[in-house]
Amino acid sequence: MIDEGKLNTFIGQMLGDLGGASSVAMVRMGDSLGLYQALHEGGATTCEALAKRVKLDERYLREWLSHQAASGYLAYDPMTTTFSLPPEQAMVFAIEDSPVYMLGGFDAVAAMLENQPKVQAAFETGGGVAWGDQATCLFCAVARFFRPGYVNNLVSQWLPALDGVVGKLERGARVADIGCGHGWSTVLMAKAFPKSQFVGFDFHESSIGEARAHAGAHGVGGNTRFEVAKAKEFTETGFDLVTCFDCLHDMGDPAGAARHIRAALKPDGTWMVVEPMAGDRLEDNLNPVGRLYYGASTLVCVPTSKSQEVGAALGAQAGERRLREVIGGAGFSTVRRATETPFNMVLEARP
Ligand SMILES: C[S@@+](CC[C@H](N)C(=O)[O-])C[C@H]1O[C@@H](n2cnc3c(N)ncnc32)[C@H](O)[C@@H]1O
Repeated sequence: MIDEGKLNTFIGQMLGDLGGASSVAMVRMGDSLGLYQALHEGGATTCEALAKRVKLDERYLREWLSHQAASGYLAYDPMTTTFSLPPEQAMVFAIEDSPVYMLGGFDAVAAMLENQPKVQAAFETGGGVAWGDQATCLFCAVARFFRPGYVNNLVSQWLPALDGVVGKLERGARVADIGCGHGWSTVLMAKAFPKSQFVGFDFHESSIGEARAHAGAHGVGGNTRFEVAKAKEFTETGFDLVTCFDCLHDMGDPAGAARHIRAALKPDGTWMVVEPMAGDRLEDNLNPVGRLYYGASTLVCVPTSKSQEVGAALGAQAGERRLREVIGGAGFSTVRRATETPFNMVLEARP
């Protein structure tokens, strides 16, 4: 027996999902063509006036504006036939440093779509897809997606939640940022703590190139270095702080990395592990954040880990209990959740 009420509710959800899926291309076009910025800076506008201002074809623009209004991304006033970007939506689409700037999320979903054929093939073989063989701009998308969280939390909330770390950083400490990707986290820390020395390690060569460029562009070339190295093979030791931002679960051998990191820390050092927010049981993660992360995990994180030695494939929703097993198993004496946001948990491990 079909329950019509349940069916209608589910069809409503599917309409929302399909509309959201259509937004991936539409939002990315709006971003690339500078439309959100133009709407943010210029205020309410008719389609004709906007077309003149941004020098785009008016017919295409009208269709795009209509989609954005139907999506609730733009407000439309039928009296004046004007479109505007409300301040709340501007935080998501136009203000790069806002804590809820989400354009990187749309880029990441586009990268996930591009990854589908390779990952689908891996379902049959059980093999992996190497980080470097994934979608063309997965790396930029990930960096852009995580950046607002780091800009708004890393220096102001996460580091102060660790025992005694900020004082050391202010006086001058040695820090390794493992799996640093494009290096936003490294650059932000280096800017905030000019007396400390930072080295970013990542096994993906082109990401290290981008990280070096970022450091140069942000004037922190003097206290940052970036090196290509695997998490369990970098050769330096004597660190006061080691950080891992959203990468432990991507590693093939997170337990091996944890052992290596412990050996690289000073006896009174700290390992900060930032991982996606997740509960320990599947039923804890059946929510919008879990949904997005399980998608990313299937299309990016699990194949990345499976392409490496061991292939532990913790997944992006590993949960604190599983992470503690990995960290504690490497001999760290204490592991605690230092702080959290809706999207991340921050674990502090001491040797
Ligand atoms: C999701 S990205 C996060 C990048 C960066 N930490 C950030 O927050 O933007 C995961 C990163 O882990 C790196 N990675 C994965 N496995 C690794 C390993 N075994 N050793 C070093 N880096 C690794 C990838 O190259 C990638 O840059």
